[in-house]
Amino acid sequence: MAAQKITVPAIRAMKQTQRIGMITAYDYPSAKLADAAGADIILVGDSLGMVILGYPDTLSVTVDDMLHHTRAAARGASRSLIVGDMPYMSYHVSVEESVRNAGLFVQAGAHAVKIEGGKPSRIRVIEAVLDAEIPVMGHIGLTPQSVNALGGFKVQGKGADDARRLIDEAAALEQAGCFALVLECVPSELASLITERISIPTIGIGAGIHCDGQVLVYHDLLGLYDGHKPKFVRRYAQIGADIQAAIERYLADVREARFPDDQTEAFHVALDDELRELYGGGVVIEMPKAK
Ligand code: KIV
Repeated sequence: MAAQKITVPAIRAMKQTQRIGMITAYDYPSAKLADAAGADIILVGDSLGMVILGYPDTLSVTVDDMLHHTRAAARGASRSLIVGDMPYMSYHVSVEESVRNAGLFVQAGAHAVKIEGGKPSRIRVIEAVLDAEIPVMGHIGLTPQSVNALGGFKVQGKGADDARRLIDEAAALEQAGCFALVLECVPSELASLITERISIPTIGIGAGIHCDGQVLVYHDLLGLYDGHKPKFVRRYAQIGADIQAAIERYLADVREARFPDDQTEAFHVALDDELRELYGGGVVIEMPKAK
């Protein structure tokens, strides 16, 4: 029997009952693995700008980039909830354009979108997207699309005023109708306070153990990205090193004529007599028996 599909109401209900496991994925094979591993939510994050496209931050990622990857990831997942991350400038110009862009994510296979920020102009956009029947996940704290305004990738909410602002934004996002809220790089005590005060699940990244769920970037978790490794990342594998070692073995086999060999040589044909007469040489090889 196929496992039950995770829905937006199911994620909301997990606040009371179980911790939420979320991971990013950006293509068919990674989403398929995350889905099979039991991820509740797969975020097609704009972090793909850094870990897939090689940019120094997420600001260059376009709607087209995101839709391309959302389509691929959505094809790989059958159970997990797919959340598409709206990139920089896709919800900043007008409410109308934001709703249209959010709709493109749904048409690409996302069940919901994520939007960064919690100031009043952002709340208006989120309300309009929700009004178009598109569930929204909020995201506050370190919002990477604001890296220039924030002055770098820094912990947010350390001072009392900033903490109060984040508490107010969390309440406003809950009130607006977001179904979950990412808290990125905020002190654990603040994340705990917000988690207690709002009725929707919080999903932390660098926000401590008291959130209702956690999210990590696929490439960070697996050791596939050799850029900056934030302090809060736990590596569960070193796949990048394994891949490089495998490619090195393959290249050595090619150079030393160890590949292909009797086991891997797939196609043989007996050279035609006329061809051999015309061009000379050629080893006559038996066709392998059909399986
Ligand atoms: O883009 C992303 O991967 C994210 C997560 C880190 C929450 O926004």
